[in-house]
Amino acid sequence: MSGAGLFETVRSPNFTHMQPTLTVEHRRADDLVGLGEASPRLTWATATDEPGWHPTAHEIEVTDPDGLDSGATAWTTGRVESDETVLVPWPAAPLGSRQRRTVRVRVWGPAGDTPSDWSPPVTFETGLLDPADWTARFVAPAVEEAPGTAGDPIAPSPYLRTEVDLAGVPRRARLYVTALGVYDLEINGQPVGDHVLAPGWSSYEHRLRYETHDVTHLLRPGRNALGAVLGEGWYRGHLGFDGGKRDIYGDRLALLAQLEVVDAEGATHTFATGDDGSWRAGPGPIVRSGIYAGETHDARREPPGWSSPGFDAAKWGPVEVVDSDRDPATLVARVGPPVRRTEELRPAAITTSPQGRTVVDFGQNLVGRLRITLPADPGPAGAAITLRHAEILLDGDLCTEPLRLAEATDRYVIGEASGGATWEPRFTFHGFRYAEVDGWPASTPLTADDLVAVVTHSDMERTGWFECSDDRVNRLHDNVVWGMRGNFLDVPTDCPQRDERLGWTGDIQVFAPTGSFLYDATGFLASWLADLAADQGANGVVPFVVPDCLRFGLGASAWGDAATVVPWVLWERAGDKGVLAAQYRSMTAWVEFVLAQAGDDLLWDDGFQFGDWLDPHAPAGNPFDGRTDPHLVANAYLCRSLDIVAATAVLLGEDADAVRYRRLAGDARVAFVDEYVTPAGRLASDSQTAYALALRFDLLPQPAQRDRAGRRLAELVERAQHTIATGFVGTPLVSDALCDSGEVGAAYRLLLQDRCPSWLYPVTMGATTVWERWDGLRPDGSLDPGAMRMNSFNHYALGAVGDWLHRRVAGLAPDEPGYRRLRIAPVVDPDPAVRDEGGLTWASARHRTPYGMAESSWRIDGDTFELTVVVPPGTTATVVLPFGGDGAAGDPIDVGSGTHRWTVDLPAKDSS
Ligand code: BGC
Repeated sequence: MSGAGLFETVRSPNFTHMQPTLTVEHRRADDLVGLGEASPRLTWATATDEPGWHPTAHEIEVTDPDGLDSGATAWTTGRVESDETVLVPWPAAPLGSRQRRTVRVRVWGPAGDTPSDWSPPVTFETGLLDPADWTARFVAPAVEEAPGTAGDPIAPSPYLRTEVDLAGVPRRARLYVTALGVYDLEINGQPVGDHVLAPGWSSYEHRLRYETHDVTHLLRPGRNALGAVLGEGWYRGHLGFDGGKRDIYGDRLALLAQLEVVDAEGATHTFATGDDGSWRAGPGPIVRSGIYAGETHDARREPPGWSSPGFDAAKWGPVEVVDSDRDPATLVARVGPPVRRTEELRPAAITTSPQGRTVVDFGQNLVGRLRITLPADPGPAGAAITLRHAEILLDGDLCTEPLRLAEATDRYVIGEASGGATWEPRFTFHGFRYAEVDGWPASTPLTADDLVAVVTHSDMERTGWFECSDDRVNRLHDNVVWGMRGNFLDVPTDCPQRDERLGWTGDIQVFAPTGSFLYDATGFLASWLADLAADQGANGVVPFVVPDCLRFGLGASAWGDAATVVPWVLWERAGDKGVLAAQYRSMTAWVEFVLAQAGDDLLWDDGFQFGDWLDPHAPAGNPFDGRTDPHLVANAYLCRSLDIVAATAVLLGEDADAVRYRRLAGDARVAFVDEYVTPAGRLASDSQTAYALALRFDLLPQPAQRDRAGRRLAELVERAQHTIATGFVGTPLVSDALCDSGEVGAAYRLLLQDRCPSWLYPVTMGATTVWERWDGLRPDGSLDPGAMRMNSFNHYALGAVGDWLHRRVAGLAPDEPGYRRLRIAPVVDPDPAVRDEGGLTWASARHRTPYGMAESSWRIDGDTFELTVVVPPGTTATVVLPFGGDGAAGDPIDVGSGTHRWTVDLPAKDSS
């Protein structure tokens, strides 16, 4: 009965009320204080079970929840005929600083008569939008303590405090705060907020993020104490490889804090650093702290009660206003989510190593730090507990060589009152699965109850999931998720453990699509892109790392193309045209830089390139030296970026630019073909990466050339026996290029290979994150000595395959920006023999789009193939079944919102 198919739209038995849910900009529902936008955009997703539902109109109501600002009550847009629901422009007058608004929305569907219920109301508040709002000035200890050890550049972390008097219970209190360095705050002995390593790392000279904390509940009538601890963080601490540098942004740690208290009568009282002599600075227990170094906490130096009123700070010294180039104009509100503690993992095992050391295994390579709880009898004051961290073990002991100069060592020096104390370092983080604990009090052996690994990263909302019938692939996908968690710690980093942890542009350029599926990373990446633009050279060059602490002044393709690709990904995946508008000058500046390198012949064929970095063919010590001509990569990326800026110019109404960049994209293709492609479609580099680039970036004008390239790619994949033969550039493209060329079987064999180098080889070696090198650990568990200096076990770049798993294997892809239209076209291994021998028999992906949850799940059961698709309200989908009536891919089917299911017969085995 080949060809017989069944289609049903699955109706929910319980029809729920139609109700939208509202979000503001890219903020989570619990993070709506301190917005930097005067006209924040609104998004709403509507829950309804009505199949084929789409919005036709909406009404937005805006109220001033406390009437402090205008006394106005409700204001509404009235019914607006519009089907827009994502990042809809602010409908009311632009807001000023410190203004609160409560917003709700209701919508009309296709019938157009009865509105939905109102969304639950959402209240948000703006931060300080005008530099003139800042009366606070940066203050630093007039004299900082010297480092404890001669020759050690790291000085103890200063503690700062003041006290303020309040006449009554505040109606509202806000603390606007940032630092040169990193900071932690306390009021009346209580922590302010739950952020970690604030204000994070940005291009500080241009953009220093401040935070707005609601501190109303922490203040009380009478005397209140306000305390801050400062750490070196990225501002003054050691950054970079090959020795790196210190003091990159400045050499003085300083605090900027402005406490604004609205009293019961509505009058505002402001207490700001620098406005009087009340702030004092003194010593604290953190005697050494660095991002790479780790932290030493000497509990004997703890000043009990330092952040409570009445503490005797007589011996503390004065602070002074710092002459700073941190003009208030550089202060910006946070755009992405804060860094938080997101999960705690207990030890999976505590063992004694062959060398007699205590080694704790958390069962998962992660990023964060340890929290220890000391026994009641912790032993003599002055003794130290040392915590060392590593991603792997070698012969049963920590292998720290891949950390290079990162000491990654925390120490707790026992004080008189340490019995039962709990301690976690404040201003550092480590990438580790294993920890060595030394000096644990002899009175009580270390148990799993005494320590916990605190997972720490930017607290983005999870939005994407994938699963399939092969557990090894599921573990690979988990590893991709953990790789993202570890490397989205305020800045998208290459790796989180060694003396690097930098915002390498190439890595995020390839990973952004995967990351945007797994988490709502739009705010995080939009903020980083603002840093990218700020750090761009006057000639448009994009630094290798953002924030640019290396300052090489060089540009390289596939890395610098983050300037065009990442904004485009946010447009495609989140529907955020505002990011394109904000980045437009940066995007065009980058392509102009490349065009200037390319010259009249439109070929960038000299100078530095990373090329197909870490092609497994390259010698361990020379990752540049892959199979693909680095300038072929550069010119392919020039075409790709010109396409993106041309399309962006069209969207933004930059008509003259659109014409120019489209023409240049055409000319650059001609130049590429002349230089690198034979008329028959053979490429100058006969490598998988070269063919994948040519196919995915649409560089081959003739259909015959494309066919030839697709076949050659499949031949090369076959010849490599389905092991990986591509680096950072080719690996994210090769599977898609194979599928586009009808070589689905080859793509699956590449995915399911577990011999080194392959995606699954690390999984067979017990990997719990994505590795930098395919052969990070060799089959016998050893490390290649030649690769020791660059062998990270938590590098998300090669996890970019996640995007292909989501879009092609499960088949859940955006067809219009923000998934307003979905393309559901799962690829299924066409060879029944392969499926019978362990190929995938089902796969499923879910993604919370801006419109609501979308899903694509397929399953082969006996002789039938079943596909279930959830299309969110307000969206439509094009569905392409992998098997149609005659065994070939079916025709596109259009469906509206709802849950739809297709059941078709598999092609008869002999017909394939
Ligand atoms: C980083 C990479 C980065 C590369 C560029 C490495 O040290 O870890 O991921 O993209 O340098 O060459």
